[in-house]
Amino acid sequence: MTIERVFSGVQPTGNLHLGNYLGAIVNFVKLQDTHNCIYCVVDMHAITVWQDPAELTRNIREVTAAFIAAGIDPKKHIVFNQSQVSAHAELAWVFNCVARLGWLNRMTQFKEKAGKDRENASVGLYAYPNLMAADILVYRATHVPVGEDQKQHLELARDIAQKFNNDFSESIGAHGFNDKFFPQPEPLITGPATRVMSLRDGTKKMSKSDPSDYSRINLTDDADGIAQKIRKAKTDPEPLPSEEKGLETRPEADNLVGIYAALAGKAKTDVLRDFGGGQFSGFKSALVDLAVDKLGPIGAEMKKLTQDPAYVDSVLTDGASRANVIASETMNAVKDIVGFIRAK
Ligand code: AMP
Ligand code: TRP
Repeated sequence: MTIERVFSGVQPTGNLHLGNYLGAIVNFVKLQDTHNCIYCVVDMHAITVWQDPAELTRNIREVTAAFIAAGIDPKKHIVFNQSQVSAHAELAWVFNCVARLGWLNRMTQFKEKAGKDRENASVGLYAYPNLMAADILVYRATHVPVGEDQKQHLELARDIAQKFNNDFSESIGAHGFNDKFFPQPEPLITGPATRVMSLRDGTKKMSKSDPSDYSRINLTDDADGIAQKIRKAKTDPEPLPSEEKGLETRPEADNLVGIYAALAGKAKTDVLRDFGGGQFSGFKSALVDLAVDKLGPIGAEMKKLTQDPAYVDSVLTDGASRANVIASETMNAVKDIVGFIRAK
């Protein structure tokens, strides 16, 4: 039996928050027991919008530190930054020529990020999903743990894989490869917090770029910061419901219960069994204790790791060299399939 390969990425764009942790990183950690995992700090994706160079460097190390602090083992699995493995960019170019303009025009993340001034968005921001498809498919990964917001990009990656397999089917066969040269990568969107919402507005996603720091819990927030943000989190005047159905029209309550459930490793129903009928004040105190208990040690370990950049960098270069072995094998095959000439 071959063990399935997992790939996922996180952008080094500052302010890693509870949404990144519960929507993605917690699942990254779990998958280590059952899969071969490759976790990538996607620095090339980050520069699709302007990044201050010194800050980008710091942020690459910070995401790496978060991975390790959360429990990812960079020796058993692979942790690296994208720009150190050139095959990502090479395969992305081939995919720029496979994907259709019409497909990219439908991407909602581009529309959101480009905003009203679309003419002024970078070409990279537009082509971003093609690079993301390349990230995954250069390892021929089959499982991709992500938050809910990445679902559409995963569908695009599947379309690209299929069109490549179809367009080049003859050449794929002629070179002796399986006709499903690229697999169909599957999104793994799991847990009670696949979409963590802002603490200030339960209808908006918790995001790195929200101007209000009170909208999110950062992984580097200390205990006082976490407590303050949870106490100030928006709620409604009703007591908590006893059943999940009662959360349907109450986005803020739903979000806080989801966060509690995810941090405790329980279902929302179980959380409501304990807190249903009670006031938010009691629930919030319990949530503060739980959040400090779970996130405190991660934040502390991240701080320790970021004080040793030489160690963090060595993890990344070691990971990159192991990733490169897999990626260049795929890229060589792609070059042959497309009809390029390469040194042999
Ligand atoms: P990014 O910071 O955009 O690179 O996102 C890294 C990972 O975190 C991706 O898998 C996202 O889907 C996930 N993520 C980001 N924000 C949230 C959120 N508010 N709730 C759940 N998952 C999220
Ligand atoms: N686009 C993802 C995000 O913004 C990050 C990402 C880049 C990614 N490449 C990936 C996620 C490949 C999963 C697989 O969150």
